[in-house]
Amino acid sequence: MVENLIEVKDLYKWFPIRSGLLGRVKNYVRAVDGVSFSIKTGETFGVVGESGCGKTTLGRTVIKLTEPTSGSIIYSGRDITKLKGRKMKEYKKKMQIVFQDPYASLDPRQTIGSAIMEPMFIHGLVRDRKEARSKAEFLLEQVGLNPDHFSRFPHEFSGGQRQRVAIARALSLNPEFIVLDEPTSSLDVSVQAQILNLLSSLRRKLNLTYMFISHNLAVIRQMCQRTAVMYLGRIVEIAETSRIFENPKHPYTVALLKSVPLPDPKKRKMLVSLEGDVPSPVNVPSGCRFRARCKYATELCADKAPELIEIEKDHWVECHYDIDFSREAKVNTITA
Ligand SMILES: Nc1ncnc2c1ncn2[C@@H]1O[C@H](COP(=O)(O)OP(=O)(O)OP(=O)(O)O)[C@@H](O)[C@H]1O
Ligand SMILES: [Mg+2]
Repeated sequence: MVENLIEVKDLYKWFPIRSGLLGRVKNYVRAVDGVSFSIKTGETFGVVGESGCGKTTLGRTVIKLTEPTSGSIIYSGRDITKLKGRKMKEYKKKMQIVFQDPYASLDPRQTIGSAIMEPMFIHGLVRDRKEARSKAEFLLEQVGLNPDHFSRFPHEFSGGQRQRVAIARALSLNPEFIVLDEPTSSLDVSVQAQILNLLSSLRRKLNLTYMFISHNLAVIRQMCQRTAVMYLGRIVEIAETSRIFENPKHPYTVALLKSVPLPDPKKRKMLVSLEGDVPSPVNVPSGCRFRARCKYATELCADKAPELIEIEKDHWVECHYDIDFSREAKVNTITA
């Protein structure tokens, strides 16, 4: 077993912006703008950040649902960045994604049984329909649904049940790695907890590795062993999740932690909110891209972009300064 199932090096995904009759490229959306990280076999690796910072694009690019602009993706020791066709298909089987919205990811005209069997047929994983059906029924059971629901349509299910179907579909090819892109964000809190428990137990039972994308810090804290904090296409901090919460080192991480509502309903206001909006990924600021919203920013931050460096073992931070946040208001109040 390899230590790192995924190794991403200097990954970029820029979307061209075209205009005019000839569709010339005028500019780029720098959705993922030079990130490096690895995901250990068997772990749940969290990716957190505000809306639009590039989380989904990163998840899609890592499994090559979106082609990277440059950089490399190593899967289980093999560089898959340039693989195409049949060779890539083998890897596509191993890497799956579950989206936020099970309403959008399931075809309303297709029974849930067909939805789960479809990838098995596409990848030639089963000999015939009978085998596919029995596998699909087993998967329904595995995700906590009744196998008798095989012939029902998505509209006959609740949001949580539909997300269970989406998970069963993702499992249909016996994957090793699953990108979970806000898998519970569209669900009620009580249902959310059930789906999170299901995902945790499936990971253990099936030896899965997850990349868990969320903007919900409480969920990240509950689910992830290590976490990357993304800001405007870059990873600005990576560490064990407990360190991210207890000893954050990037001013953005600190601001993000503080902008979460307090769990006590009587104090349901933001502790300190993050001020200003995320700058556009089309016109990325020079120097440190967080500087306009950072109360610690200096001239150096305008002149020079910091690099992600390992400030303590396994704790990486992209900031020019080692700021002492210990006197700031307590930030680690978040519980699931
Ligand atoms: N196919 C695309 N073409 C052009 N721009 C895109 C495309 N997909 C994403 N983007 C842009 O890339 C940036 C990052 O988007 P992305 O969806 O990855 O962010 P996100 O962190 O997942 O946001 P959210 O939390 O809202 O889901 C955004 O500015 C978005 O508009
Ligand atoms: Mg997203």
